Amino acid sequence: MTVNVAPQVTGAPAATPQRVATPRDYVMCRPTYFDVQYAINVWMDPTQPVDRDRAIEQWEALRATYERLGHRVRLLDPVPGLPDMVFAANGAFVVGDTALGANFRQPVRAAEAPAHRDWLTAAGIDVRLPQAINEGEGDFAWAGSRILAGTGFRADPAARADLEATFDLPVVPLELVDPRFYHLDTALAVLDPATIAYYPPAFSPASQNVLAELYPDAIIATKADADVLGLNAVSDGRHVVLAEQAEHLAAAVAVAGFEPVPVDVSELLKAGGGVKCTTLELHRPHAPFTPSPITAEECS
Ligand code: ARG
Repeated sequence: MTVNVAPQVTGAPAATPQRVATPRDYVMCRPTYFDVQYAINVWMDPTQPVDRDRAIEQWEALRATYERLGHRVRLLDPVPGLPDMVFAANGAFVVGDTALGANFRQPVRAAEAPAHRDWLTAAGIDVRLPQAINEGEGDFAWAGSRILAGTGFRADPAARADLEATFDLPVVPLELVDPRFYHLDTALAVLDPATIAYYPPAFSPASQNVLAELYPDAIIATKADADVLGLNAVSDGRHVVLAEQAEHLAAAVAVAGFEPVPVDVSELLKAGGGVKCTTLELHRPHAPFTPSPITAEECS
C-alpha cells in the first residue's frame, strides 16, 4: 500500500491551515441613544457632530453580517442616557454558563453593568460580581485554555483575581501603554485559540515579550491597521469581521487562511469603538486546546 505523505523539508513554510468557522452567540445593543457627549478616551471629541442614523445603519449591517455568517445575535435593550451602551463587549465577560460582571472605571458608564447583569441572569447565566474595576470583554480575551487580560487604562490589575476566582483558567496579564489603545480589544484580536493578531507598540516591552513567546506565529498588525482600530475584530475561527479601512490586516489574515469580512463602522469610531466593542460573545467552551508552555514568570 502506498501512503502519500507531504515531504518534510526543513525550513520550508508550514502549509496554511484549514480554518473552520463555528457558530457563535453574540449579544448586541442597538445604538438608539448613541452619542459622543463626554470624552473618556482620546478618540472622543464632544465638539464633533455624530450622525446617529448612520451609526444605526452601520450597526444593522454588522448585525446582518453576523446572521448571514450563521451566528445568533441576541439583543440587549438600549437605555436612554447611556450613549456608549452600543459597546456591549464592555458589559461582562462570559464563558459557558458563568459570567464576570463589569465594574466600569468611569461613572458615566456605571449603569450599563446592572443592565447586562439582569439580561445575563434572565438568560440563565450565573453572573459573579467583581471586586476590582473591569470593563468585560474590552480588556479580557478568551483564548481557549487561557484568558488574556489587559490592564493599564481601564481594567485594574486586581481584576485578575476576579477572573481566577470565576473561571478555572490561567490568566495572562498584558500591560497597555498607549492611550489610543486603552482596551485590550483595540490592540489584539483572538482569531482562534492558537492564533492572535496584535499591534506590539500598544504593549509594554515585558508584555510584548510574553506575546512573542506565547504566539510566535501571530499576525503582526501595521500602524495603519491599528490606527483605524482594525484589531477590534471578531473571528468565528474562519471569518474575521473587521473595519474595512484595515486593508493590510485583511490581507494578512487572508494569507493565514482566514476569510476577511470588511464592514464600515466609521461612525462608531468617533466614540473609540469598532466591531469587537459592539459584540459581547457568549463563549462556548470547546474541547481542551493545548497551549504553548508558559512560565510562571510570564504569568506573574
Ligand atoms: N466610548 C467607549 C469608552 O471609552 C468606547 C468603548 C469601546 N469598547 C471596547 N470594547 N473597546 O468606554
